[in-house]
Amino acid sequence: MGQDSTIDLRSDTVTLAPEPMRRAMYEAALGDDVYGEDPTVNALQEKVAQLTEKDAALFVASGTMGNLVACLSHCGRGDEIILGDQSHIARWEQGGASTLGGISLRTIKNEDGMFDLGDLKKAINEDDPHRTVTKLIAVENTWNGMPLTPHYLHQVKELALNHNLSVHLDGARLFNAARHFKRPLSDFTAAVDSVQLCFAKGLSTPAGSIVAGSHEFISKARRWRKALGGGMRQAGVLAAAAIYALDNMQERLDEDHENAEFLAAALSQIPFIKVVFGPCTNMVFFEPTTESGMDREDLVRKMKDQGILTGIEKNKGIRAVTHFGIERHHIEEAIKRIGLICS
Ligand SMILES: Cc1ncc(COP(=O)(O)O)c(C=O)c1O
Repeated sequence: MGQDSTIDLRSDTVTLAPEPMRRAMYEAALGDDVYGEDPTVNALQEKVAQLTEKDAALFVASGTMGNLVACLSHCGRGDEIILGDQSHIARWEQGGASTLGGISLRTIKNEDGMFDLGDLKKAINEDDPHRTVTKLIAVENTWNGMPLTPHYLHQVKELALNHNLSVHLDGARLFNAARHFKRPLSDFTAAVDSVQLCFAKGLSTPAGSIVAGSHEFISKARRWRKALGGGMRQAGVLAAAAIYALDNMQERLDEDHENAEFLAAALSQIPFIKVVFGPCTNMVFFEPTTESGMDREDLVRKMKDQGILTGIEKNKGIRAVTHFGIERHHIEEAIKRIGLICS
């Protein structure tokens, strides 16, 4: 809760860096990363390559940039990516891969985060001059908070291997999935050729993401990052925050997951509210019942008037996200205020 008692549940991107993270940023050893000379960026990249068990990693400005350089590195003009119709890359990244890379995006249904493997197989183009060349499958974990198991990712990978395709994982919140299943990151990344991880969501850094993959993939990604204007100089200031986050902010995600469970259980006890999805990891989706006389927009507005900030995900409901800075007493207070709105 801020000084003004606002409880901000819009996203885990609103998290503020804790004081020791800021100190680590202040004290970071720096150099020019475009020359490959920033020791803190280099240390972060090596650390993530180890954690994901990939050859190498590359620090990028954002999740969108990480996914974009990955798509551009795997595919060329006229190639095609198969991905979920509800995926972040398909819906929230301006179709950057097609705008900038001439890559077509073929979407298949993924209403619960997973594709039906039969649909996935059918969407792969045979070698035919009428058709685009299917090159890449993109998956997302977590998806709207829902964690996908390493087993599912391995099934996708097996299908990809049989068709000579690569797999990219949008792991903006893979840390949440790993904590949920209590499995190391590498259990998930073993099933994919490349991964994008965000530090500025649940791990609370001010900015920054990273991609990891083979040496060949990373050298292509480095070229694309530069072309996109993402060659940052003393980026070690941000990389230091990411190193701090990897060492200190992963385990505490359990607290966010427990708070989301608590929130969902308490919301479902409030008259005129129904939980429509979740809790899964750190997200809960809910909406007012028809008997409430309110629609989603009404409820979001009324909650905002009471200092509770949420968002609407069109295909799901009102979204509440738990994160660093939101503690159990904030959730209890939010429930109290929502209860009054609905009484
Ligand atoms: C699943 C997913 N992928 C990618 C991104 C993009 O990250 P960024 O906002 O850092 O560009 C987001 C952002 O919310 C996301 O939720």
